[in-house]
Amino acid sequence: MSTTAPVIDDLAPDTGLLPPTAVTPTGVVVAGWGYALPVRRVTNDDLAQTLDTSDEWIVDRTGIRERRVSGAGESTAPLALSASRAALDRAGLAAADVDVVVVATSTPERLIPATAAIVAAELGITAGAFDLNAACAGFVYGLTTTAALIGQGIVRTALVVGADTLTRFTDPDDRATSVLFGDAAGALVLAGTGTSTPAAAGPGPAAPGLVACDLVGDPGGIDLLVVPAGGSARPATADTVAAREHYLQMDGREVFRRAVRAVAASVDRTLARAGCTADDVAWFVPHQANARIVDAVLPRVGIPPERTVSNVDRFGNTSAASIPLALAEEADSDRLANGDLVLVCGFGAGLTVGTALWRWGTPP
Ligand code: ACO
Repeated sequence: MSTTAPVIDDLAPDTGLLPPTAVTPTGVVVAGWGYALPVRRVTNDDLAQTLDTSDEWIVDRTGIRERRVSGAGESTAPLALSASRAALDRAGLAAADVDVVVVATSTPERLIPATAAIVAAELGITAGAFDLNAACAGFVYGLTTTAALIGQGIVRTALVVGADTLTRFTDPDDRATSVLFGDAAGALVLAGTGTSTPAAAGPGPAAPGLVACDLVGDPGGIDLLVVPAGGSARPATADTVAAREHYLQMDGREVFRRAVRAVAASVDRTLARAGCTADDVAWFVPHQANARIVDAVLPRVGIPPERTVSNVDRFGNTSAASIPLALAEEADSDRLANGDLVLVCGFGAGLTVGTALWRWGTPP
């Protein structure tokens, strides 16, 4: 494990490529949203039946009380499909209306074909479909990618999904990782407004869509979160399975340390690019990895807990699904109002960090 490289805010990456506002030249609305969860709930007490752990330890160190664990028929593609159906129903759109399908996942249904292609095929979508792997930050990368495709007029309507089943890649005997993760999928349908009004920052009327973003890496964390075998470098064999190298290995303490600094720095850069302050943010939706990471980030970025969405207690770390799941729950509860500035931030293996400031808007 590498622990000597500088953490991300020491690197202070700023490519200067992004304009300060209006990443997309046309507005983008969230036409629909949905999520899917496995049926089986696993509480901390359930885990303590087979692991040397306790509800007290898990709640104290992570804020997690229970998670959903996928069973038969609940692998990544079926969860993504179910979330996508809900989002399309909500949008009132049909397969023929979708111009691109993007699934952010690091636990694909199979290595080949892409999970997005499986979802598209099941839905009868003939448009292009591709997966995107930015680990737990994946949904933010999917959101910014699809918003840019819409904004540039390349597509009109996009289905963007975050879906992961990390419990299938977690060693059930490793108490340091197996208590952290849950399975889920969340989906948004994004649609261009067709207007040329930019998504302006700050309070007041403005077009919906992507206001500013920050997509960065922390190369010093490359070895901190790894599934060693099953890829091209080390294809799965009986030996790799016997050595449990098909399971996630993590230096949790170092991930924690780097994540807090990286997330705070990325949020700061995003708000600065948008010409906003933390006071302008209506809702902060951070990746739901660990309540303590969020608790440590909030005072650094100046956003209060009352404006921060948290569901890690009920679902654990659902990787790329955590942000769209949280957004869909918030939207279902009518807590997101048109015009709200919503700040999403994901971080995960790589280490990869993505932050987006999004002006929430639904179709008229
Ligand atoms: N129950 C009881 N004890 C445990 C457990 C457990 N489930 N897990 C570890 N411990 C023990 C350790 O063995 C250690 O014991 P020791 O002192 O006798 O050696 C002790 O608890 C402390 O272990 P630490 O790892 O130092 O505990 P820490 O306070 O760092 O908490 C945790 C561990 C919760 C994993 C924390 O480091 C963390 O949340 N890190 C961030 C991880 C994360 O969010 N990863 C996902 C990133 S997103 C992605 O891409 C997937």
